[in-house]
Amino acid sequence: MTLEDVPQVEEIEREAFPTTWPPSAFQHELRHNRIARYLVAVEEPEEATDERPEPPPEPGLARLLGGMWRALRAQGEGRERVVGYLGIWLPADEAHIIAVAVRTSHRRQGIGELLLLAGLELARREGRALATLECRVSNLPAQALYEKYGFKRVGLRPRYYSDNMEDAYVMALDGLDTPAVARRLGELRRLYLARWGDVQFRVGA
Ligand SMILES: CC(C)(COP(=O)(O)OP(=O)(O)OC[C@H]1O[C@@H](n2cnc3c(N)ncnc32)[C@H](O)[C@@H]1OP(=O)(O)O)[C@@H](O)C(=O)NCCC(=O)NCCS
Repeated sequence: MTLEDVPQVEEIEREAFPTTWPPSAFQHELRHNRIARYLVAVEEPEEATDERPEPPPEPGLARLLGGMWRALRAQGEGRERVVGYLGIWLPADEAHIIAVAVRTSHRRQGIGELLLLAGLELARREGRALATLECRVSNLPAQALYEKYGFKRVGLRPRYYSDNMEDAYVMALDGLDTPAVARRLGELRRLYLARWGDVQFRVGA
């Protein structure tokens, strides 16, 4: 995630969570939090085609509008669209997943899984053995995602979420530094790529 991505990330955050971070929190995280890493999943822009209609070349106002239209189209082209993000903190001895969210319009297309896989690979590369997170007890889709990757419920934080006083499960995946977990993640990555195809991992670029 770069500072440029933040407005789109905030849109996704508003869609995904009942409470959001204060304004400029993401900028602060990116600029100042040395243990934070933020990843985005982006949709590559579509190839430009000649099939889109051009406005007619008319004089006066129509020509001016046509010029603006072309300028806007050119601006839109080449811009990647952020469709999901993941935040992870790396204190000394663990990796704590702060948030993962996907645009509502893009859910169930493997993007949450892609982000989690990339986040866990990052944590492994940074030498962390333990990954942890909190998750609403009612959030079954997220729990299913984490369980698919081997997270187990290891605790409960009563009334953890201030908006509705909902409890949080603490979930953890240990052994990130072991060959067994490395093999399991490798296998999940292979299955992921076989299922979802043309995806590029560019973690840490
Ligand atoms: C949780 C979330 C990130 C999942 O993202 P997604 O891109 O839709 O998920 P994916 O398509 O990658 O699914 C991966 C796995 O997650 C689980 N999953 C995702 N959505 C699910 C759903 N609606 N019901 C059941 N399982 C679901 C499944 O195990 C799925 O694997 P499968 O496809 O082999 O069944 C997304 O629902 C979201 O943004 N929710 C709102 C924010 C949120 O709750 N974040 C988690 C906070 S703890």
